[in-house]
Amino acid sequence: MSLLELAGVGKQFRGLRALSDVDMSVSEGEIVGVIGPNGAGKTTLFNVICGALKPDSGRVRFAGDDVTGRRPEVLARAGMVRTFQLMRPFASMSVAENVSLAAQHHTRGAARLRGHAMDVVDRVGLAEWAHRPATELPTAGLKRLELARALAAGPRVLLLDEVLAGLLPAEREPVLDLLAELRERDGTTLVFIEHIMAAVMRLSDRVVVLDQGAVLATGTPDEVTADPRVIDAYLGEEPTTHADA
Ligand SMILES: Nc1ncnc2c1ncn2[C@@H]1O[C@H](COP(=O)(O)OP(=O)(O)OP(=O)(O)O)[C@@H](O)[C@H]1O
Ligand SMILES: [Mg+2]
Repeated sequence: MSLLELAGVGKQFRGLRALSDVDMSVSEGEIVGVIGPNGAGKTTLFNVICGALKPDSGRVRFAGDDVTGRRPEVLARAGMVRTFQLMRPFASMSVAENVSLAAQHHTRGAARLRGHAMDVVDRVGLAEWAHRPATELPTAGLKRLELARALAAGPRVLLLDEVLAGLLPAEREPVLDLLAELRERDGTTLVFIEHIMAAVMRLSDRVVVLDQGAVLATGTPDEVTADPRVIDAYLGEEPTTHADA
């Protein structure tokens, strides 16, 4: 059974078709990569799934419920958690405090909340930064903090928007290991938008290719990378990664 299912999802911005008739299905425990050129609609897709944007048409189902148009906080409490392409931590708070905030809805008591936050901070490799202001983190640290906040929220499905962008190759490895472990150890379902194809190839069970708001192809990493339409629309060109949330 699908944990997450989209049927006929469409979204326009003042006449621009950002998403048209998108069908997508993600099974529990699956890792699905989402790729496509800049402006293909990948982040918009996440915004619709997570309730940040209402689709103009179509339905989103999560864990058997029709959740179309439900608010992001409500969905997050049900286990639908996302990271943002552009990280915006609370500047006046420490790394650990930022993570605690994300866990507040399911962990009661200040001491337990602190303990839980520290576990997560440690898990993403930020232990020595725990009590420093979030603003002091370098890019790689901010990415880890964004991941930590998502983990602290207790995801059943985790939607990751370019968590590797801006990281050096050596900094990507531990993040990829952590994501693989999340599925293996915690059974977390992952949907991740990524431009770095080596990561897509390594992590994905299945890849969804978006182009101009529509699903161009779906298949195993080997299938989609051999698909001439995908090579034409995306893989033939050098992608640019940038933070535009
Ligand atoms: N809030 C918005 N208002 C108006 N247009 C928007 C809005 N959000 C996205 N768009 C437009 O919708 C299209 C899809 O944008 P989206 O951010 O989903 O692309 P993307 O695939 O995530 O691209 P990237 O790889 O650059 O992050 C783009 O043309 C974008 O300019
Ligand atoms: Mg995007």
